[in-house]
Amino acid sequence: MAETLMELVDLKTYFDNEDGLLRAVDGVSFEIEKGETLGLVGESGCGKSVTALSTIRLIPQPRGYIAEGEINYHRNGEVIDISKLKRHGKKMRSLRGNDIAIIFQEPMTSLNPVYTIGEQITEGIFIHQDADKKSALNRAVEMLKKVGISAPESRIHSYPHELSGGQRQRAMIAIALACDPNFLIADEPTTALDVTIEAQILELMRDLQSEFGMSILFITHDLGVIGEMAERMVVMYTGKVVETGDTDEVFKEPLHPYTQGLMSSIPRIGSKERLIPIKGSVPNILTLDQDQCYFASRCPEVMDICYEKEPPVFGEERNTKCWLYDTKEEAV
Ligand SMILES: Nc1ncnc2c1ncn2[C@@H]1O[C@H](COP(=O)(O)OP(=O)(O)OP(=O)(O)O)[C@@H](O)[C@H]1O
Ligand SMILES: [Mg+2]
Repeated sequence: MAETLMELVDLKTYFDNEDGLLRAVDGVSFEIEKGETLGLVGESGCGKSVTALSTIRLIPQPRGYIAEGEINYHRNGEVIDISKLKRHGKKMRSLRGNDIAIIFQEPMTSLNPVYTIGEQITEGIFIHQDADKKSALNRAVEMLKKVGISAPESRIHSYPHELSGGQRQRAMIAIALACDPNFLIADEPTTALDVTIEAQILELMRDLQSEFGMSILFITHDLGVIGEMAERMVVMYTGKVVETGDTDEVFKEPLHPYTQGLMSSIPRIGSKERLIPIKGSVPNILTLDQDQCYFASRCPEVMDICYEKEPPVFGEERNTKCWLYDTKEEAV
């Protein structure tokens, strides 16, 4: 039986922007199991990063906030609703240092340019693991070795700008994993890298996951990467989850017309099939009527009901938010 690590229940994260209330994350529910990689995919702006940042309470300030919902994190038999914790309180800080780590697309924005790689790895170990200087340094060297950085004893004295892009991403992973987290959020960790380096980093992450056994929330707009990395996947569109399932099953038979559109717009090696882009562009959710399916205006299979009522989620583990799967309606 799979054990749940984190469970998002109807999470709503909004921004109080000048031009109106932006429902960036609008009722998102999904589970992450212990030890699994869950892929989160969707077009730019659909709320992937804000969903992830909500789980560690790093939503951009001052405008962003959790309006509703639960983020239930399971730790040693205790269930902590992260959405109710104080952003900078002791419990949240301890979760960030010991349980949950995050790596971003561009390491230069999250690595501190004025501290060496070694200092940045040991900082987390000092704060959260009560280690002395020597054992923290040893751990830093060991971590750099694990992420495949050569000559780690001298590399710990390097500054971020002295490393290549791929090495910086490796160093970020070392910092994130130094405290042995149970949950790693990887927000487009390889998007900025060229394809050979990307393949190396993905392989490294797979190896480290089997060694450390953590769960990974892997965010990407690249379905190919999801196919390689994630056992299960969640597809988001305009702040909502439109489809969830085992990656193999979603690839074999995507249910939601949006997922089908995403699938037919990725190139396949050797295929002469024409790529069909999804028609139109992502609507402005500020001006959309909420009582409808947000994909309706772009959907090739749109029905009247799609403009009248927001679809609920049909199905359980394998589910989709689309009126096409309403078996009750068909029976009428
Ligand atoms: N600091 C902020 N202030 C106001 N709105 C924001 C802020 N950060 C994000 N948003 C808005 O929230 C929505 C979701 O953004 P988010 O960054 O989660 O998208 P994403 O799916 O991660 O996209 P990408 O693939 O481009 O990274 C967008 O409409 C975005 O403009
Ligand atoms: Mg993002």
